[in-house]
Amino acid sequence: MGYKGVGLPTHTATTTRTKPSKMYKEKEDVVRWIFKFVGRRKKILFIISILVFIRVLYVWHGEEGQKVEAPHSDSTNKEPLSNIHNNLSYVGKASKAFRPRPPPYFRGYTLPPDHPCNRFKLPPPPADKKRTGPRPCPVCYLPLEEAIALMPSSPSFSPILKNLTYIHEKPLNRKTEFGGSDFGGYPTLKQRRRYFNIKGTMSVHCGFVKGRQPGRGTGFDINEKDLLEMKRCRGIVVASTVFDAFDDVKSPSNISKYSEQTVCFFMFIDEKTESSLKRDKRFNRTTKKVGLWRIVVVHNLPYTDGRRNGKVPKLLVHRLFPNSRYSLWMDGKLDLVVDPHQILERFLWRENVTFAISRHYKRFDVFVEAEANKAAGKYANASIDFQVDFYKKEGLTPYSTAKLPVTSDVPEGCVILREHVPISNLFTCLWFNEVDRFTSRDQISFSTVRDKIAARTKWNVSMFLDCQRRNFVVQRYHLADQEKLKKKPKETKSNGHTPSTGIGQQRFA
Ligand SMILES: *[C@@H]1O[C@H](CO)[C@@H](O)[C@H](O)[C@H]1NC(C)=O
Ligand SMILES: *[C@@H]1O[C@H](CO)[C@@H](O)[C@H](O)[C@H]1NC(C)=O
Ligand SMILES: *[C@@H]1O[C@H](CO)[C@@H](O)[C@H](O)[C@H]1NC(C)=O
Ligand SMILES: *[C@@H]1O[C@H](CO)[C@@H](O)[C@H](O)[C@H]1NC(C)=O
Ligand SMILES: *[C@@H]1O[C@H](CO)[C@@H](O)[C@H](O)[C@H]1NC(C)=O
Ligand SMILES: *[C@@H]1O[C@H](CO)[C@@H](O)[C@H](O)[C@H]1NC(C)=O
Ligand SMILES: *[C@@H]1O[C@H](CO)[C@@H](O)[C@H](O)[C@H]1NC(C)=O
Repeated sequence: MGYKGVGLPTHTATTTRTKPSKMYKEKEDVVRWIFKFVGRRKKILFIISILVFIRVLYVWHGEEGQKVEAPHSDSTNKEPLSNIHNNLSYVGKASKAFRPRPPPYFRGYTLPPDHPCNRFKLPPPPADKKRTGPRPCPVCYLPLEEAIALMPSSPSFSPILKNLTYIHEKPLNRKTEFGGSDFGGYPTLKQRRRYFNIKGTMSVHCGFVKGRQPGRGTGFDINEKDLLEMKRCRGIVVASTVFDAFDDVKSPSNISKYSEQTVCFFMFIDEKTESSLKRDKRFNRTTKKVGLWRIVVVHNLPYTDGRRNGKVPKLLVHRLFPNSRYSLWMDGKLDLVVDPHQILERFLWRENVTFAISRHYKRFDVFVEAEANKAAGKYANASIDFQVDFYKKEGLTPYSTAKLPVTSDVPEGCVILREHVPISNLFTCLWFNEVDRFTSRDQISFSTVRDKIAARTKWNVSMFLDCQRRNFVVQRYHLADQEKLKKKPKETKSNGHTPSTGIGQQRFA
């Protein structure tokens, strides 16, 4: 689903009317549900439930190709958020004892054909050649209250893999052919092969191998109070890190009151950053917060290389927040400027995927990416060559349109959107293992891990456009880059965030 329309919000109108029998069956279920309900409650409740159903239908019964009733973005639907939720919880309480169980899996949904997001077209790239570099573009978000109402009530389907557990080794087995670390363990090549052979129940290396619980004597250690608070996150987590300087960490902006109250915003910092933070007036020692960010100090960082340490919260969010359902990872150099519910609705729920990441804005071939990394001195040439050769021997080929619907082999990984289900958790565990065994350049290993899992299951990821990513996170520049950009003031502007960037955003203001 994810690749249809290459991430553009235009794919839904084309898929119409398949599986009528299934659709009928679902309608029948709904009718039965309603009768059961009415049988025991008074008329007034019945009417409320119908109203609520219009919303719920949208979520439950968006079976492929089915047209669903949905609130229109451009309608004058001004129903306040609190009402939707009050009514939902009211119905929930009143009928708890006899309400049939909700369907076990989220089935996806499609917006109605006449929805503005289906007519939404990206503007053509700027004609001025000098301005075709990285830039933001409009995204058709839904209005906040619709995005919130569409948050799935049940998890997505996890193909084949149902039960994923993580290896805890004591003592550590350090015997492997090459690579690995005390933090990630030393999986052998045979284990690596086995992990790619997806089964119903699996136990894999996934960082934190030294302890029973991530953050407790595993490296990347976190104090008990913070761990407890992290465990309490049961919905959406937004996570980021700053590992050397705190100065320009900015609190996320344009975040709704509802998200402020329900989304966990966690910023992981090292001890060095902590000492500079203590002098920062914005830091509240009682709440341990800077703006919306809840600050967590990480002790015993597992690697000497900061870039490797950063991969722990980036790829292993699901281990740090074991009860969370969704996560948005963002690099410390980015500022979030759109509500997380709207982002997840657009790039995960509406796409019916459990993993979404942006594509690199101009490179989509691992071999080309590896050369660029070498030329930029990002990592020792020999290590990059070794890794790429290894993948090549396993069957990695240059990207070409023959790989469609896969649109790219190279992600821009500074933002990752996930639903935490077993298969997507496995994906990031195995991706982390590659980063631990080979170079820390995760864009080199991404497609290998993705394609090995996709070859065994029907699971796939969505790769959206880099310019769409730049719509919801604003990149801050390193001082050296800012100097360079001063010479070209126009380009500086085009790289920034433009406030009115689409229907959803305009309504949001
Ligand atoms: C969403 O994906 C699930 C399986 O992952 C599939 O059963 C369902 O039909 C999809 N829904 C839509 C609307 O494409
Ligand atoms: C929700 O309940 C309020 C009263 O609490 C009512 O005014 C409103 O119409 C209801 N909305 C829906 C969608 O049922
Ligand atoms: C998952 O697998 C583990 C280890 O094999 C097992 O102990 C556990 O009971 C399983 N959980 C479920 C829910 O099946
Ligand atoms: C820290 O936050 C608490 C709770 O919001 C507030 O009462 C207190 O005044 C804040 N302290 C400082 C120093 O801002
Ligand atoms: C690494 O490779 C790049 C491109 O292949 C080359 O430009 C660079 O000089 C090499 N670096 C070293 C240290 O050999
Ligand atoms: C992802 O899976 C869906 C449903 O199985 C399919 O329609 C789509 O083409 C797949 N995309 C890729 C890139 O494999
Ligand atoms: C989002 O926040 C930025 C400040 O970070 C502001 O300039 C912009 O106008 C806001 N956008 C909307 C749509 O509220």
